[in-house]
Amino acid sequence: MRQATVYIDSEALQYNLNRVKQLAPTAKIVSMVKANAYGHGVKDCLAALADSDAFGVACLEEAIEIREQGYQQPITLIEGIFSDDEMQAAVDNSIEVIVHQQQQLDWLRAYKDAYIAKGLKVWVKLNSGMNRLGFKVPEIIDVINSLKAEGFTCVLAMHFANADADHHPLNDQQRAQFLQVKEACAPVMGSCCNSAAIYKWPELNFDFVRPGIMLYGASPFADKSVHDLDLKPVMTFTAEVIALNSIQAGESVGYGSTFVADKVMDLAIVSIGYGDGYPRAFLKQNYVAVNGQPTRVIGRVAMDMIAIDATGLDLKLGTEVELWGKNRLVDDVAEANGTIGYELLCRLSARPLRKTK
Ligand SMILES: Cc1ncc(COP(=O)(O)O)c(C=O)c1O
Repeated sequence: MRQATVYIDSEALQYNLNRVKQLAPTAKIVSMVKANAYGHGVKDCLAALADSDAFGVACLEEAIEIREQGYQQPITLIEGIFSDDEMQAAVDNSIEVIVHQQQQLDWLRAYKDAYIAKGLKVWVKLNSGMNRLGFKVPEIIDVINSLKAEGFTCVLAMHFANADADHHPLNDQQRAQFLQVKEACAPVMGSCCNSAAIYKWPELNFDFVRPGIMLYGASPFADKSVHDLDLKPVMTFTAEVIALNSIQAGESVGYGSTFVADKVMDLAIVSIGYGDGYPRAFLKQNYVAVNGQPTRVIGRVAMDMIAIDATGLDLKLGTEVELWGKNRLVDDVAEANGTIGYELLCRLSARPLRKTK
């Protein structure tokens, strides 16, 4: 059995969902559970997030999985559908689509009567400068007004490219275009806030907010920790000590012998590696937490093992080491690796055990 475990704290998830409610009290909450709930395991997370008004996912399979779990809330497909068959399946399963290109409008219109009869909303994506998906101004105004005239209920949707940055000029452009379109298509519902925007721009919460990373207790901001944001880490990733060693000054550890001891030191070998999703890059010294205290990762991360500095620590075979969680924040591990918490959470492999409480 793999001596590594991902623990999911359902109460922390509910706490974070309540934080969204506090920050956006008048908006409906579309909890983003795409990518297996940011790597946390969608089935368990849905149970903890059952109070959400709706769910957001990236593809049809993710949406159908939610329906198969018995959840009846609206689901938004944030990239929409990519064939006539997918449109049929979306209607059959009461899944709402985003439209961001003409072909998707054609597929939608082919299922107009059934879509409207089921009370499904159409999310129309504005490209206001992110330049990934969406209709630009002024085309989007015609798209929304035509859909409305045909009887569809529309939500104007937009995604900020720099919601985590304080003074990016694109933020003003995106906000201005969103407000312009909303006014030109009034009345129309609106949704443009992800986690960072929920914190920064309460006046833009409108009808639906779309929190992702904040639900899972990681920070959308490079310069603010989850503690600053009053969020609780949901995932604790641990692995056990499987061997204890001592090395002398001048001896090295692991592949490439990149670490050479300058004094006698104790090592603990921990059963975790990049085969589990633990990152290998380490642009900076990385740490794990042992009994809540930080201790160094020594030498290279291998596929299945790491070494940590056990000098002076009360470590035994089987001691659980926290790779990230409440004591060693995933955002800090990510920073040491030149990446973001989102990526580390999403790219865990299937190998660690999973436990939810
Ligand atoms: C369209 C859309 N809305 C909301 C989110 C949630 O963003 P965050 O996890 O930063 O809250 C995402 C995430 O990528 C997204 O693509």
